Amino acid sequence: MAFNRTLITAALPYANGPVHIGHLAGVYVPADIYARYLRLKGQEVMYVCGSDEHGVPVTIRARKEGITTQQVVDRYHELIKRSFAEFGISFDIYSRTTSAIHHRFAADYFRAMYEAGQFVEETSEQFYDPETGHFLTDRNIRGECPRCHSLGAYGDQCEKCGATLSPDELINPYNAETGNALAKKATKHWYLPLDQYQAWLEDWILNQHKEWRPNVYGQCKSWLDGGLRPRAVTRDLDWGIPVPVEGAEGKVLYVWFDAPIGYISNTQELCADQPQKYGNWEKWWKQEDTRMIHFIGKDNIVFHCIVFPAMLKAQGYNLPDNVPSNEFLNLEGDKISTSRNWAVWLNEYLEDFPGKQDVLRYVLTANAPETKDNDFTWADFQARNNNELVAIYGNFVNRALVLTNKYFEGKVPSCGELTDYDKATIEDFKNVKATMEELINAFRFRDAQKEAMNLARIGNKYLADTEPWKLAKTDMERTATVLHLALQIAANLAIAFEPFLPFSSEKLRAMLCPSSLQGGDGGRLFDWNNLGNIDLLKAGDALGEVSLLFEKIEDAAIQAQLDKLARIKAENEKAAQEEALRNWRPEPVKEPNSFDEFEKNDIRVGTVLECTNVKKSDRLLQFRIDDGMGGRTILSGIAQSYPDPSVLVGKQVLFIANFPPRKMMGIESQGMILSAVDADGKLVVTTVSAPVKNGCQVG
Ligand code: MF3
Ligand code: ZN
Repeated sequence: MAFNRTLITAALPYANGPVHIGHLAGVYVPADIYARYLRLKGQEVMYVCGSDEHGVPVTIRARKEGITTQQVVDRYHELIKRSFAEFGISFDIYSRTTSAIHHRFAADYFRAMYEAGQFVEETSEQFYDPETGHFLTDRNIRGECPRCHSLGAYGDQCEKCGATLSPDELINPYNAETGNALAKKATKHWYLPLDQYQAWLEDWILNQHKEWRPNVYGQCKSWLDGGLRPRAVTRDLDWGIPVPVEGAEGKVLYVWFDAPIGYISNTQELCADQPQKYGNWEKWWKQEDTRMIHFIGKDNIVFHCIVFPAMLKAQGYNLPDNVPSNEFLNLEGDKISTSRNWAVWLNEYLEDFPGKQDVLRYVLTANAPETKDNDFTWADFQARNNNELVAIYGNFVNRALVLTNKYFEGKVPSCGELTDYDKATIEDFKNVKATMEELINAFRFRDAQKEAMNLARIGNKYLADTEPWKLAKTDMERTATVLHLALQIAANLAIAFEPFLPFSSEKLRAMLCPSSLQGGDGGRLFDWNNLGNIDLLKAGDALGEVSLLFEKIEDAAIQAQLDKLARIKAENEKAAQEEALRNWRPEPVKEPNSFDEFEKNDIRVGTVLECTNVKKSDRLLQFRIDDGMGGRTILSGIAQSYPDPSVLVGKQVLFIANFPPRKMMGIESQGMILSAVDADGKLVVTTVSAPVKNGCQVG
């Protein structure tokens, strides 16, 4: 279908923490590449984003930090906004869902649907905390898991056994924050009857959008195959946009109802601010010749492909043309997590690597989780910087510029006759533009960036093969031609890399053609449509000041990052252990047993004569026991709990005397020492509180 403009949306990040590399790689860099590319082609584009400031995550953060929710969103909105700007994410607007314009627009949207009879009302029994008087979200309800019986399972999931749960299934549910036992109370909510959209969605997605990424299409198909059910779009909460109808006191719009409407209200805000540049907001949302692309992460697919489209359809808005969702980026093999602080935060990255925005952009695109989850490692980050950006792109550009300064007083030399090799080189990058366009249009940014790097490789090889530094001794005319061509290739690189590495491209443009930065006609020199043109720079034009595009990253800088992660991992392990201790409850009492059964165990007291580690075993301790009957050897798997086993020497302990002997690590164990298993799994040998004869029985 023909279109005249593109509206690009990037998922509104929750304002409950800073943004990290996972956000950048999954959503904001790919969307930015796309927006920059289209602008560079001269197309009409709007790139919209903002902070998602409602919902439970921000309220949890507020309670954790002991500040108000408003303070949380103010703090993180500013921080996130700044991080994006610093990384060159070229939003046309970055607004927020607590803005007055958004509140009004989202409430109006709800009211319009309400008045058109597009919701279903239903009263149901929901959990609430009788002490605070609050209803609870699934995530805020905890209790005993009905499957594995671990304590502290969440209302939506047990993290111990992985079971998906509903709050109703939990045994003894309680409020995660207050610890109070919960009761049930009737409450009314409004539901979006997705079941009524099922047939339409099936046709729209499954038949008309077979071109969507397999991960997106597949997720939609499985939702649709499972049958859609009505979804509540209101909540009993005191943070959010009040439900604008009668009988809805104390209720707010569900965050996933209001947040995507933020795309529309932000468009409105921008158009109201700059009507000359952007025109009327309705043009972007209702006109058929506008195409909309949602960039999101995979946990957002159902909302952008099913729920929001149903809302848009209901009110006669445009539907997304594509939803190129990425999978997840992991960090050093582990899932990125805000709550576990397992992330590379953008603000911290810039403190450690000032000015190296493009390096991170490059690595995240080279490793983008476009089709499957991917892993960010610091070793890969360093290798891609040193071996690709520095050794190929930077090296080539620097050679071309430095040699031009040296032999031609910093002016673009003129082009003489081209050799066959020159022509072959030009031929080699003739189709870079077409190839890159095809890839970018298919949202295959990592392959597109690879093409740009290939162009740098071509340039690098060209200089390595022609060796102008040697030519200059014998043939200045040939040297001029080689450098002329090399500079033209460098100019092409500034274009090819512009969507990916905007800071470096700007720097390179300033070095190649300082006048181009002043805008005017010179500014058009580096338009996308000039990619592949080997006549960009004019002979005789002066270069700008030359500096390095990229710098090597040393091992020490990488090690510092790895050390930081190791510290965080250790802290997390400690916290997890403390949490396990807090949640510990005694095991349920075993099946009834009889005294006769118990009596079959011959439990005795003995004194520990020796206690040592068993060689080559990190688990076993070897005891020599005075059992009053000539002595015996017993092995016990408690070495982890006794770093210094000699502390047990001289103690009177309990052991089972009538177990058949067992060989372990070549040693025969004649019985079993009794130990208590503590909450953290530590084993503590039981001892006798006053001296008794060795060999006496316990019963
Ligand atoms: N805040 C959500 C998240 O981070 C994304 C919201 S996208 C929007 O997962 F469409 F609702 F805005
Ligand atoms: Zn469980």
